[in-house]
Amino acid sequence: QISEAEVALFSVSSYACQRRTTLDNHNSNLTDALSLLAENAELNNEDGRGVAFRRAAALMKALPTQVISMSQLRGLPCLGEHSLRVIKDVLENGVSSEVESTKQSKRYKALKILTGIFGVGAKTADRWIREGIYNLEQLRHSGQTLNRAQKSGLEHYDDLNEPVTKAEADAIGEIVQKAVDSVLTGSQVALTGGFRRGKLTGHDVDFLITHPEEGKEVGLMPKVVAWLESQGFLLYQKTTRNSYLESKDGPARPASNMDRFERCFSIFKLTKGKEQETASHKIWRAVRVDLVVSPISQFAFAVLGWTGSKLFERELRRWAGHEKNMSLSSHALFDNTQNKYLRATSEEEIFAYLGLEYIPPSERNA
Ligand code: CTP
Ligand code: MN
Ligand code: MN
Ligand code: MN
Repeated sequence: QISEAEVALFSVSSYACQRRTTLDNHNSNLTDALSLLAENAELNNEDGRGVAFRRAAALMKALPTQVISMSQLRGLPCLGEHSLRVIKDVLENGVSSEVESTKQSKRYKALKILTGIFGVGAKTADRWIREGIYNLEQLRHSGQTLNRAQKSGLEHYDDLNEPVTKAEADAIGEIVQKAVDSVLTGSQVALTGGFRRGKLTGHDVDFLITHPEEGKEVGLMPKVVAWLESQGFLLYQKTTRNSYLESKDGPARPASNMDRFERCFSIFKLTKGKEQETASHKIWRAVRVDLVVSPISQFAFAVLGWTGSKLFERELRRWAGHEKNMSLSSHALFDNTQNKYLRATSEEEIFAYLGLEYIPPSERNA
């Protein structure tokens, strides 16, 4: 037994955007369990429960040492009754019985397999399961009508479920830079998402494109996509135009967390290097790539919004709204008290407006 005096107590802020969360996780046994339950909740459209588990997992990720006793958790925020029960189970038994039974369940396995198809969300997967479809084989023989994204997702299933490496992300970055250089000189490409936070692998590669002269970026995406297509780099693409200006609900208050930038969800055909050629002798692989175009005036907000993590972003918006009476989006920051937009050209300025200590991307891995 560990005596009270021996246990290290932690002091941790309650919002993830007030904390520094690196990739160095001392409690992966606990965060894996909580993340799996969060994922399961999300797959079942239980969003409130999903966020609660995500917050609990994020809090555990931010602890500076390994937790060995429940008494160390006293007074910590973000840990609800259910999360504490899961943590206790893992600390006492090495595993959580709820996590183990979830992993074994037919429904969870099917939801994982089906939502692993690009273009298939929790609702579609649930409908298919109710029709008796639990795996790809059954889906292929079901006669279900698939949309263009789903067809492409099914076709490249194995590739798209294989983590993307940093080397692959860099190779794609060079292609994207070449594409924008070819269609509009002076355009800039920034790597965002997990790779900007220092992750070594990801499920996709995220890029933000802008031009230093405001307005020059208008109509850039279709040109970039046409260039990529002409060079044979795209297996799939769906471009959505910018809907920011025509939105009625005001720039900083989008109806959902979705931003309104011109964007492209794509699947790249990436030629493998000699070293990466596999036994199958396939000389290319499919990689998911997200491209977003932002005007330079909104660039700092777009970079902040697209760097993630998803929970860090959610917490930034919650902090802005609840603690500062401000509305933050990937386009702008609006001060509801002063009734005005706050301009920024860097992420540092945005943190300062929000009254938060600046957290660099590598410490936003909440
Ligand atoms: N994002 C967004 N709108 C979307 C999709 C994503 O604003 N429709 C933002 C997310 O909030 C996140 C960032 O884009 O901040 C990257 O999202 P995503 O690629 O899903 O996650 P990563 O953190 O990059 O993780 P992974 O390595 O798995 O790709
Ligand atoms: Mn450490
Ligand atoms: Mn990503
Ligand atoms: Mn993405």
